[in-house]
Amino acid sequence: MARNKIVVGCQWGDEGKGKVVDLLAAEADIVARFQGGANAGHTIVIGDRQYILHLIPSGIIHPGKECYIGNGVVMDPFALKEELDLLTGKGIDWRGRLFVSPATNLVLPYHKLIEDVQERSRGAANLGTTRRGIGPAYVDKVARHGIRVIDLLAPERLRKKLDYQRIIKATYLEGSDDERADLNRTYDDLMGLVDMLAPLVVDVSLALRRAVAAGKSILFEGAQGCLLDVDLGTYPFGTSSNTTVGGALTGLGVGPHMIDEVIGVVKAYTTRVGAGPFPTELIDKTGEQLRNIGREFGASTGRPRRCGWLDLVVLRHSIGVNGVDAIAVTKLDVLDGLDEIKVCTAYQLDEQTIDEVPLDLYRLDEVKPVYRTFPGWRTETTGITTFDGLPTNAREYLGFIADDLKVKIALVSTGAKRTETIVV
Ligand code: GDP
Ligand code: IMO
Ligand code: MG
Repeated sequence: MARNKIVVGCQWGDEGKGKVVDLLAAEADIVARFQGGANAGHTIVIGDRQYILHLIPSGIIHPGKECYIGNGVVMDPFALKEELDLLTGKGIDWRGRLFVSPATNLVLPYHKLIEDVQERSRGAANLGTTRRGIGPAYVDKVARHGIRVIDLLAPERLRKKLDYQRIIKATYLEGSDDERADLNRTYDDLMGLVDMLAPLVVDVSLALRRAVAAGKSILFEGAQGCLLDVDLGTYPFGTSSNTTVGGALTGLGVGPHMIDEVIGVVKAYTTRVGAGPFPTELIDKTGEQLRNIGREFGASTGRPRRCGWLDLVVLRHSIGVNGVDAIAVTKLDVLDGLDEIKVCTAYQLDEQTIDEVPLDLYRLDEVKPVYRTFPGWRTETTGITTFDGLPTNAREYLGFIADDLKVKIALVSTGAKRTETIVV
């Protein structure tokens, strides 16, 4: 029986989902993205080649695998074209194996313009978004005036929908000399993409159900992380989609029986880009060291990532809301040089010790982490491929995490490359 797995991020994104999906894709027939958009940056390193994917499922790197973009994604068609051209340039043949749902909403230039205005207006309280137009595109979707992929195949309807945008977005668009406000131009540019996009459009839900019935297996690729989920994360400091498992069902049109195993990706420490609470953040030399050794700079925006210790309280929340069966621990090697490693096991709040996230997630800003300190291993783990080959202190660190979270460890990543992995 084929086993369908879902890979979700358990922290604030950039856990190493791209690498994990690439590894698991080897055993799957199909890789499907269900939410988010080009705000994602998923890195895959094979030998000395690096691929950074934003919209296209990471399975595309594997010859012959089919890739699906579901209705839950917000797709920037211009970013898609750029990404496809890049893949073509790298010799990756994607034709005939990338598919998009007709109901996928589009991110258009005016969404980015609106986001720029909104972020600027927020001043010091800005969210630090990726400025990929994600929020404004989801707003349009939920407000029921979004433009969908299928509208590109009905030019009259597209024209009418754009005319309506002109009215409802007048505050942003009227009188603007920003070229992204020019909807005639957007229409023309979109028409230029129709030949490329039309062959990709299929009933994704039906295709996935048929594939499973035919014995094929699906790997669901999450973007962002649990704490960025619009409902279950550190709202409003998060993204606009459901990054957690439920997003896969609505974002692809499949039932819960389609998911056999939930893999949560956990970085061996914590990072986040953008604003918002981060209890274990290190604003010191150790934080700097994690950033430099872990090369913690955004794969989409190049922004330095904020770094800190592993937070088990946050992870208990992620494991719970996603129903995680097993975790993939990444970037263990980044901790190699540290004398000691801390793990947050609880928070102090209102003179009480709590071991779950506070009811009001806003209050994550006020909690004081309670740490347990582990001795470092001070040996290089980069490239180690067996669990027994790890230094004792590293095994103890991992064992403690798995015991606390009551989950299995499915794999440990000891370097960015495909081969630098321990399959447990
Ligand atoms: P994603 O968004 O979850 O796919 O993660 P990103 O690709 O944005 O960020 C993870 C970064 O860490 C990328 O640069 C990866 O190449 C790199 N990476 C992944 N796993 C490992 C690992 O085990 N060790 C090291 N040193 N780097 C890793
Ligand atoms: P992957 O898939 C890390 C963050 C942004 C910002 C917030 C809202 O690579 O893990 P948005 O543009 O989505 O409206 O920004 O969410 N963010 C990410 N952080 N990794 C990502 O994706 C992210 N996608 C969005 O930095 O704080
Ligand atoms: Mg990323």
